[in-house]
This record gives sequence, structure tokens and C-alpha cells, in this order.
Amino acid sequence: MDRRSFLKATLAGSAFALAPRLSLAKSGDGVFELEAAKGQARLYGDQGALSDLWLYNGQVPGPEIRVKQGERVKVRFTNKLDEATSVHWHGIRIDNAMDGVAGLTQPPVEPGQTFDYDFIAPDAGTFWYHAHNMSWNQVPRGLSGPLIVEEDEHFFAPETDIILALNDWRLDEDGALETANFGAMMDFSHAGRLGNWLTINGQSMPDIPLQNGRWHRLRLINTSASRILDIAPSRFGAKLIGLDAQCFGEARDVDGTIQLSPAQRIDLVMRPEQTGTIPFETMTGQPFVFANFQVTEASNPDAPLKIPSPNQLPEPDLKSARTLPLVMEGGAMGGMRSLMKDGKALDMRQMMETGVFWAFNGVAGMEDTPMFSAKGGETIVLETRNDTAFAHAMHIHGHHFRVFERNGEKLKHPDWRDTFTTVPRETVKIAFVADNPGKWLIHCHMLGHAASGMMTWFEVS
Ligand code: C2O
Ligand code: CU
Repeated sequence: MDRRSFLKATLAGSAFALAPRLSLAKSGDGVFELEAAKGQARLYGDQGALSDLWLYNGQVPGPEIRVKQGERVKVRFTNKLDEATSVHWHGIRIDNAMDGVAGLTQPPVEPGQTFDYDFIAPDAGTFWYHAHNMSWNQVPRGLSGPLIVEEDEHFFAPETDIILALNDWRLDEDGALETANFGAMMDFSHAGRLGNWLTINGQSMPDIPLQNGRWHRLRLINTSASRILDIAPSRFGAKLIGLDAQCFGEARDVDGTIQLSPAQRIDLVMRPEQTGTIPFETMTGQPFVFANFQVTEASNPDAPLKIPSPNQLPEPDLKSARTLPLVMEGGAMGGMRSLMKDGKALDMRQMMETGVFWAFNGVAGMEDTPMFSAKGGETIVLETRNDTAFAHAMHIHGHHFRVFERNGEKLKHPDWRDTFTTVPRETVKIAFVADNPGKWLIHCHMLGHAASGMMTWFEVS
């Protein structure tokens, strides 16, 4: 089954649905109520079968949580699933106790239990939240949602501030979520669980309403477990203003494509010049349309473009930095013969038997001691090398970092990120100020890779 035949069927069959305005989870007392439970939705248009999913507040994606920069965010979370879970606020420079990593920063939230999350969102931008216990299983069943932190000043009217939560699903012939192969070793040891169908805000081939002659902000969030999407903003007339929640303070033209890896966000601005349809494509392989912008006459006059200014992040001091290696190894065709797991050497056969395929610096998975400890305020440079045959989306919790060098070349734009992509044989250098006390994860956001070895942690005192 390929996406193209799915798409043809959809085009022939049904009228397009409008991309929904995502609903807010906020209750009267300013506390967001968030509940994880089993639910169902049609992922493959109207003719597709119902999928059995795990959802926040019964929706795909979970409800939009929208707060102001510097605001205290309170979320009363209830777990109505059959297994333990937790909620991680991806990209927020958060108080460690609220980071939502089951087993590291909090006990897992058991079935029937609640947990009160309570934190400050220091940076404005486009974030998301997702399950962080058995993530390889819980996230691709539907447990994720958008988290928007607004700038003090309101730059875009609600109808021009558009969230596009992109998700890659593996569907069976009926168009329902395929569940038999969750956790397949074949996926873990290769590119992760890749899907065959893309949705935007939970919908197949939606129309995304835009208004002619008005500036829009598009917030793209890749909530996929493993799928890298390649986006070419210039093909639909958009410019780049930020990555992973951090705005540059300018609008950039992009030549070619930008990779939108699992967990990454891209913020764009766009002002359509005429009414009509503009296809929204991914560019991996050949252009593949998975939604259409439908531009109609404007309901309100345009306001001049105002671009949010950058958040104030602590600037790394490269001169005093401590440089640490982070070598990614393992996986199929990676040539790794053994790795360390829980203090024991595993050979290839044992790796296969235990489902451990990947390592950082020769060590798979979480150990009792951190990969490194940093003094509060210390600049850390990670010199990463991808010695595997696959791309990875490396995420650091609790901090943003500058990606400043690739393959020995200083980058023109050493942008802030919380997740960076690295392709085979690449070296990437990143720098950050370890200023947030606590225990923080470093892992691949291809969730099967994280589950089978690509996960470690560091500590900031
Ligand atoms: Cu969005 Cu540890 O992850
Ligand atoms: Cu990976």
C-alpha cells in the first residue's frame, strides 16, 4: 500500500474537510484539564475505518494549550489508559521536576492517577507536548498536542495564526492504524516506525483556509515517530521566521528545502497574493501534496508584518567551553559489533535478542551515572558524529543549543534548536549553556531508536 494510491482514492471520493480550529483545554479556574484515554478517529478520510488510538481529551492531535510568555502553566493531567504514562513539554526550558520524564524526573503516572504540572514558560514560540513513557508506543498511537506560547504583543489575529501538526501514520488496508507491528525490531534497527499516510491536525488532505493579502503565521510541528519531512517554503510563497520555537527576528527566504524532523518545528510567514488553491507538499523524493491552502477574500484588512523578536537565551561562550564527544553508532548496516548495556558487553547476537541496537559513545541506553555533569552556567560543546547508516533527530531536554558547525564548516546561521538532524557520516557541533539544574535527557527523537539504545542523560548542578 503506498501513499499515492491512498491519495488518489481520497481525491476521487470525498469533499475536503476544513482544517479545524483546535480547541483549547482551559477550564474556568485557569487550569488546563488534560486526560489520556483510549479513543477512536478516522485517519484516512471519511471512507477509512476507525482507528483505535490513545488520545488527549479524545482528539487528534490533543487540544491546543495556549499561554502567554512568562505565564504560569497549570495542567491537571489524568491517566485513563491501561498503562503508566507522563507528559513532556517539548522544548520548554522548564523546571526539571515538571519535565515529565517518567522514571527520571517523576514517577510514572499510573492508570487512574492524576499529576499536576505547574511551570513557567519562559520563551515564546511553537512547542508541543507528548507522552514520555514507552514513547515509541504511546506517541504514534496519538498522544501529542500543540503548546503555543504567545509573545507579549499579539502579532497575528487568530484566523491568521495557524497550527499545522503533521503526523505520519502506518495504516492497514482499511485505513485504520496498524497495531500488530508496534515495537518491531525491524523498525527499531532501521529508520524507526515509518508510516504510509500523513495527516495535518488529524485530518487527511485538509483544506487550510488562508485570506488573500493578509500575513499569516504558519506553525509546523512534526509529531511523527520517525518520519523526516522536507518542506520547501518558497514553493508556496512562505518565508522562515523561526525554528524549534526560537524566532530569528527576521524573515528569511529559503533556497530549496528545510528538514522537519520528528519533534522539530518550523515557523513561517506567508501572504497570499491571490485567491485560489496552493498545494502544500513534502519534498522527500518527489513533491507529494498532503494538503491545500485555500485562499479566500480577506475578512479583515491586512496589518503590516510584525515579526516576533528573539527570546533571550544564554549565549554559549565557546572560548571557555568544555567539549565532549557524542558518537552515534549501531543500527542495521552500521557495522557495530558490540556495545555496552548496563555495564555488560553485548555482541551482535545478544543485541538482536534483547532489542538493543544503538549506542552513544559505545553505551546503549540509560545508566545510573550521567554521561556528564555540568556546573550551572558552564558552556558545553557536543561534538557529534553520526557513524550509523541512518539519519537521527537529536533532542536535548531543558535547554536550547546553537548548531554552529557541520562537517568542519561554521554555519552562516548558527540557529537555536532543541532538536537537530544529523545524516550518516556527518559531524555536527552544538553549544549550550548548561544553566538549568536537574537531570536532563539527550536522545534521538526517532522514538524506536531512543527505545533501543539512543538515550542518555546529563546532570546540571
Ligand atoms: Cu520530545 Cu524526550 O522528548
Ligand atoms: Cu535515531
